[in-house]
Amino acid sequence: MHIGVPLETHAGETRVAATPETVKKLIGQGHRVTIQSGAGVAASLPDAAYEAVGASIGTAADAFAADIVLKVLAPSDDELPMFAANGVVIGMLNPFSNETIGKMAARGLTAFALEAAPRTSRAQSLDVLSSQANIAGYKAVMLGANHYPRFMPMLMTAAGTVKAARVLILGAGVAGLQAIATARRLGAVIEASDVRPAVKEQIESLGAKFVDVPFETDEERECAQGVGGYARPMPASWMQRQAQAVHERAKQADIIITTALIPGRQAPTLLQEATVQEMKPGSVIIDLAASQGGNCPLTELDQVVVKHGVTLIGYANLATQVPADASALYSRNLLDFLKLVLDKDGQFHINLEDDIVAACLMCKGGEAVRVNK
Ligand code: NAI
Repeated sequence: MHIGVPLETHAGETRVAATPETVKKLIGQGHRVTIQSGAGVAASLPDAAYEAVGASIGTAADAFAADIVLKVLAPSDDELPMFAANGVVIGMLNPFSNETIGKMAARGLTAFALEAAPRTSRAQSLDVLSSQANIAGYKAVMLGANHYPRFMPMLMTAAGTVKAARVLILGAGVAGLQAIATARRLGAVIEASDVRPAVKEQIESLGAKFVDVPFETDEERECAQGVGGYARPMPASWMQRQAQAVHERAKQADIIITTALIPGRQAPTLLQEATVQEMKPGSVIIDLAASQGGNCPLTELDQVVVKHGVTLIGYANLATQVPADASALYSRNLLDFLKLVLDKDGQFHINLEDDIVAACLMCKGGEAVRVNK
């Protein structure tokens, strides 16, 4: 098959969907790969590195004309006309957007959105949400440490003792757990909360304290189980008690990292303005849910702002700030997904019996397969 890798054109996007490592493997499997000139530059991957493993360097038109196009984000309106008739596109294509799926279908494409893969053991190696959230969790701590006007670890110096920073992490999924691990390596004292009771043990095993908000009704208990491993919106009664617990913890915190998401919905509000007002001057909030409305109403998308003496960081996609490793992990996710849609002769085929393939398929030969309510 001919596989194309265009330069990503979305503002702020620095990642690339294939690295020389994955291109070498694809070529070794008998495929032909065309990389758009400059596609890897923002991820520190010059054209020469791809050429060295046997890829052709071409224009955007050359890359989009391939049988299978590997993308980071969904194609833009300008890119859609460049696809071949019956083209195949694989990427993080936003499975919750009927508009995006509709446009790809209208262009006659077959599209796979990897964010829709089930959270199962077999899908772990191609789980793009995990590979990118892990990076975001790490980078959130780095940004927090950078903007925080004090040390992270406890230090005993000749000039006196410095207290360790207190870090509060709200939402302990993939990003939150990585944030706990990273902040711990820097010597911070960490507390963390989540709706899913299963994470208590994971939080504690990483050396953080679990902020418990006990359930009081069957409805709360049932919602907290989530669905498919994901959180569901919690009843207002629990959210109020959580807000109270968070308010108390936030007053003591120096850095807060919020990561709470509900797939396909507005992110829940976990930090009210009244709570931010009572935080210590110089504290930092990193809101990883900024692109879904934010976990704090004061967050401004893609901005760093100071409100009530607290720095709020609202970058939409922190993985783009670690572009080399984000691309390396994402490209390996794609390589693993390709194994499911390329047969032993290297030909493209769709096996709908495969739960991962079926879940990721958004449109097939121009027909929308997945339509969200
Ligand atoms: P996510 O990015 O969708 O959400 C982040 C976290 O926020 C989650 O832990 C969620 O429970 C939490 N959250 C939502 N509402 C909240 C609220 N009101 N207050 C506090 N916390 C709230 O989650 P992510 O990181 O994508 O993980 C989702 C699930 O998938 C987890 O159970 C994770 O262990 C599981 N998973 C399974 C994998 C596999 O088996 N292949 C791979 C990766 C994750």
